Amino acid sequence: MQVLHTAAELRAALAEQTGTAFVPTMGNLHAGHVSLVERARQHGSPVVTSIFVNPLQFGVGEDFERYPRTLDADCAKLEAAGCDLVFAPDVAEMYPVPQSFTVQPSASLTQDLDGAFRPGHFSGVATVVLKLFNLVQPRVAVFGKKDYQQLLVIRELVRQFNLPIEIVAGDTLREPDGLAMSSRNGYLGTSERIQSAQLHQALADIVAAVQAGEHDVEALCAKARRHLNMGGWRVDYIALRDAATLGTTTSDSARLVVLGAAWMGKTRLIDNLDFTPSAQT
Ligand code: PAF
Repeated sequence: MQVLHTAAELRAALAEQTGTAFVPTMGNLHAGHVSLVERARQHGSPVVTSIFVNPLQFGVGEDFERYPRTLDADCAKLEAAGCDLVFAPDVAEMYPVPQSFTVQPSASLTQDLDGAFRPGHFSGVATVVLKLFNLVQPRVAVFGKKDYQQLLVIRELVRQFNLPIEIVAGDTLREPDGLAMSSRNGYLGTSERIQSAQLHQALADIVAAVQAGEHDVEALCAKARRHLNMGGWRVDYIALRDAATLGTTTSDSARLVVLGAAWMGKTRLIDNLDFTPSAQT
């Protein structure tokens, strides 16, 4: 497995490749990332993974500085997973001049949910992903469903800029108690870690209630928020949406997604569950 740090080396290494499968990451890799790399292997070759903690997508006071940088351990996991090339640039390599041209994703996709709580975040994500796509020129790119709103933003980026890239969604991997795997889980203290499965449980309860025919979505989400608040969480949002658009659900919604973001102590966790509503909903 090659590990490259400059855009010039990357371009040279991939010059002849037309079937690249790409997994963009910020490193501190866990089994969820490994499953994305395994997914990428089913879709193309060579498999390229980027590791870059992108300052553009972190707001003031967020965890850019303390985000774990674990390149050696990450490379060992990627090599074992069958990755062919790791691109690990530093900030000066990705942003040799201040990035004054940026991608501004549609407000309809980013004005609420995480977009409302992290202003500028999706612009930072879309901008770095477009840059990475231009450098790697993949045929396929794999993104985890754990960042559901991000996945929809990237799909729209590819569609509206006519990028010849197939976007593949990788399923969320979970710990045995249901907690979605995330690099940020490492911030949790022991008792916070035990409590943290409550977020997934709250979302799963909403799915079960909807599937059982409960129509009062607002009441369900409000109940989940109250329950989490009582458990010591600070909830940013719990919402049920149309899975294709993230708009309000309608009787025509073929798939739904329940999404949540909440703080356990100083750690902000996000999760979601997408599902096909049963006939009675
Ligand atoms: O999902 C992530 O890890 C990041 O948002 C991404 C897509 C690598 C862009 O920095």
